[in-house]
Amino acid sequence: MSKDLYTVFGGTGFLGQRIAGHLLENGHRVRVVARRPERGGDLLQHARAEAVSADILRPESLSAALQGAAGAINAVSLYRETRDLTFERVHCEAASQLAAAAMRSGVGRFIQISGIGADPRAADDYIRARGRGESVVRDAFPSAVIVRPSVMFGEGDAFLTAIAQTIRRLPIYPLFGQGLTRLQPVYVDDVAMACAKLLAAAHAERLYEFGGPRVLTYRQLVGEVAQAQGRTVHMVPVPFAVWRAIAAAADILPAAPITRSQIALIEEDNVASRTVPGLSALGIDARDIVAVAARLGGQR
Ligand SMILES: NC(=O)c1ccc[n+]([C@@H]2O[C@H](COP(=O)([O-])OP(=O)(O)OC[C@H]3O[C@@H](n4cnc5c(N)ncnc54)[C@H](OP(=O)(O)O)[C@@H]3O)[C@@H](O)[C@H]2O)c1
Repeated sequence: MSKDLYTVFGGTGFLGQRIAGHLLENGHRVRVVARRPERGGDLLQHARAEAVSADILRPESLSAALQGAAGAINAVSLYRETRDLTFERVHCEAASQLAAAAMRSGVGRFIQISGIGADPRAADDYIRARGRGESVVRDAFPSAVIVRPSVMFGEGDAFLTAIAQTIRRLPIYPLFGQGLTRLQPVYVDDVAMACAKLLAAAHAERLYEFGGPRVLTYRQLVGEVAQAQGRTVHMVPVPFAVWRAIAAAADILPAAPITRSQIALIEEDNVASRTVPGLSALGIDARDIVAVAARLGGQR
């Protein structure tokens, strides 16, 4: 095993690319793994970065990606199901196989990215698969570290960009219900920095929940983003039943703008537990969504 080599599955993604970047900044070597790793862009120009093509749904492709690594992290996502690609396959079966392959390869630390609210008993397929995924990963790799971020924002995100664009483009802002769901948006770079630290740390807890510095209702958040953009916003409550109907109708589209699972997620508060270690336990000062929104304003 090479003490300074780390494998990032999903290393070309929104979070994974930043985890790889922080590992490189910290002086480590990084294997950037994805089905199309060439999408890692500038990251792959780094002398200590290596691109490896692997599909976590194909267990035979995993050992080359894990060979000799001191640690590995699963930052692979699936937000929309297709006929073959289900939440269960990616977030449970493949995650379990990946954790088992990491165990066999003698990887010292394995991190599974999950999400706040993951619940094996949830009615929603996505939330349930995330919850079940945590426990099957633990079965395969007992010392695995589970990281649950709240909704993440940052350059190239889906969340804050959608809010900013809706404020800019629509005369009214349709809220999810009354807009009272409490969220704790977290800066993707803070989560990535934390994951890079955890991969190389001598000691890690088994579960972390990462949230930003403030808990805001969705309504407050929209108001603050509008203010940061220097715009007025007219918010209109839209019942969750209407959103569920829209998401069900959108399901038949190849690139659904909103999914049933996204509605299920936004119906529940998404706030880090006070009893689970978070970013501050790793010495990270979480950055605020509105401050970052103002800084990134020109790009949205
Ligand atoms: N974004 C958020 O706000 C948020 C909040 C909480 C938790 N999370 C969790 O954070 C993790 C990362 O999310 P993200 O938003 O960064 O995802 P993302 O931008 O969609 O990136 C996904 C990455 O996974 C790779 N990938 C997908 N399927 C794969 C497969 N079968 N085998 C190998 N690689 C595969 C993709 O590359 P290829 O397509 O080339 O394979 C890409 O590198 C996910 O577990 C997500 O649920 C995200």
